[in-house]
Amino acid sequence: MTYAKIIGTGSYLPPRRVTNQDLTAMLAEKGIETSDEWITSRSGISARHYADANVTSSDLAVRAAERAIEAAGVDRQQIDLIIVATSTPDFVFPSSACMVQSKLGITSNCAAFDLQAVCSGFIYAMATADRFIRSGMYRTVLVIGAEVFSRILDFNDRSTCVLFGDGAGAVLLQASDEPGILSTALHADGSYVDILCVPGHVSGGTVTGDPLLKMDGQAVFKLAVNVLDKVAREVLEQAKVDAAQIDWLVPHQANIRIMLGSAKKLGLPPERMVATVHEHGNTSAASIPLALDAAVRDGRIQPGHHVLMEGVGGGFTWGAVLLRM
Ligand code: ACO
Repeated sequence: MTYAKIIGTGSYLPPRRVTNQDLTAMLAEKGIETSDEWITSRSGISARHYADANVTSSDLAVRAAERAIEAAGVDRQQIDLIIVATSTPDFVFPSSACMVQSKLGITSNCAAFDLQAVCSGFIYAMATADRFIRSGMYRTVLVIGAEVFSRILDFNDRSTCVLFGDGAGAVLLQASDEPGILSTALHADGSYVDILCVPGHVSGGTVTGDPLLKMDGQAVFKLAVNVLDKVAREVLEQAKVDAAQIDWLVPHQANIRIMLGSAKKLGLPPERMVATVHEHGNTSAASIPLALDAAVRDGRIQPGHHVLMEGVGGGFTWGAVLLRM
């Protein structure tokens, strides 16, 4: 049996760190009131990182990918597929994955494409890579989540602009006889398009509609807690793994209250959940690989550990991946 196994992880945050106090001062200049207390108590976020204006998702992706490749210790020319999960690509086209391939100097036979499932993007990309590896079509797959959400934030809307940040995370997956990804589940319900969206498009050389993020926070919150629990149980059931066997829950880092709610429903103590939301904010498709890499590098996640990753995002989309490191 062939499994898709993680052989390296990497991540990258742009250096500009913006604290809640910085954001409070920025918004105050526009006459908009917020506070560290409000942001921390509602979301768990204390700071986020923003990329400079000339930095794109593929720039962040390449930095994260280089770290994952270095950790894996493989020749980058072995990579035969690159999937970039992003909702903030460099261009309408070509894909950010093609930009990454070029910037990494990969000149061997390597396919590349972007995948868009908003904050569930990394989960969708992992499930996709898993199927390609199991089928034997590709052997060494670079999966990246990369976002510059600061570009699509409405800084006149205090209920959304305080929640998101920029960053990238990457994993290198390779075909292995040893268990890696054990089970995956993906879902979508397009009837919820309106509760989280960026309803703009390029037409005739201008953006038609609204190019900034809109969210009904309370509707998202209620839906998220419910679907995350169901999909977590679905992947556990598929793999015949008990919730008590999960060593680490690595959820999408949207809001500490949603994350703790998910862990509690699974019967997991908060200590078995990886949380980076306080320092990263919500980095959409980048949030799970950023958190995963943090816990791999500080030694919490060890070879052989069962890791459950789960995500939920615009669309509405949601999914989970259960794996053995
Ligand atoms: N600072 C101060 N006050 C604020 C701010 C702010 N930044 N934002 C909103 N408020 C005010 C509102 O105006 C409202 O005031 P009012 O009662 O006078 O009208 C009050 O705070 C309460 O607002 P609510 O929206 O009820 O606050 P809530 O407790 O629901 O928290 C939040 C809002 C944090 C957005 C919450 O609903 C949430 O976390 N939702 C889930 C969002 C999420 O996880 N999204 C991402 C998932 S998918 C993805 O990642 C793309």
